[in-house]
Amino acid sequence: MATVKTIGVLGAGIMGAGIAQVAAQTGYQVIMRDLTDDFVSRGLNNINKNLNRDVQKNRLSQEEAQAILGRIKVTTKINDLAAADFVIEAVIEQMELKKEVYRELDQICPEHVVFASNTSGLSITEMASVTKRPDKFIGMHFFNPVPVMKLVEVIKGARTAEETAQLTIELAQKMGKEPIVVNEAPLFVVNRILVPMLNEAMFVLMEGVACAEDIDKGMKLGANHPIGPLALADLIGLDTLLLIADTLYRETGDSKYRPCPLLRKMVRAGHLGRKTGRGFYTYN
Ligand code: CAA
Repeated sequence: MATVKTIGVLGAGIMGAGIAQVAAQTGYQVIMRDLTDDFVSRGLNNINKNLNRDVQKNRLSQEEAQAILGRIKVTTKINDLAAADFVIEAVIEQMELKKEVYRELDQICPEHVVFASNTSGLSITEMASVTKRPDKFIGMHFFNPVPVMKLVEVIKGARTAEETAQLTIELAQKMGKEPIVVNEAPLFVVNRILVPMLNEAMFVLMEGVACAEDIDKGMKLGANHPIGPLALADLIGLDTLLLIADTLYRETGDSKYRPCPLLRKMVRAGHLGRKTGRGFYTYN
């Protein structure tokens, strides 16, 4: 397989922008694509904000920050991804939408290019099935906030080639991350354990067992978590979390994984966490 020099990133949301930033910081050329100019500039602004914070904290010089930004090309045209050697997809967690994107991408990108989905728990095998390269299709799951979190889950679908897995593991390492290898299963490893815990915290709140602040304080001080489960749900985004929780419930058919009704209600109300300024907490 060819050496990776240019990484295509599909999606400029929280995860896509984070992945683009880390790729550019570790020396890769990046092409970040989203549907509208507005989405793309929001992603770029977030990267800018993070780099400026690093400059203010003397972790990065102004010149280095400029060089990193200079390696990120943004676009709304999917055809521009033809120049990428490796594509990481971070679009919304909906299977049909992702398949649509991969059908298109399969026509655009050269045959040797690996497609890696940053899905939080959807089937890699199913996404790969709409392409002519299921052997070059893999999961590459980053964690939020991407510049801070060290882990990448590398998920092998039913037809992923060993060579593809090796390339992805090496890429994750070159991006400064620690990979773990996962055989495809709903929600992989971390979310399979984490999401039911966050869901349970919402049931505890909904049942009036304790207030949000005390639930979070309990898990911070009693289980040494860096932030409480409700604050973490706000960080992930409640809409994303609901899509992930629904995947686990649907794929297993096990009622113990049913998403908390409070989560569904908050998503319907548009209270999606930090990104909308209101979730379990309010944000400026
Ligand atoms: N981007 C870049 N850097 C960020 C950041 C962001 N969005 N948010 C925080 N940071 C950095 C800050 O710059 C700061 O760095 P320094 O201390 O070196 O200056 C550091 O992180 C700590 O930040 P803060 O002091 O502002 O806040 P904090 O101490 O509460 O830490 C946190 C923030 C790192 C997010 C911490 O709360 C934490 O680790 N939370 C848990 C995160 C977690 O579990 N993520 C996984 C979510 S699940 C997931 O992503 C999978 C999925 O599919 C849904």
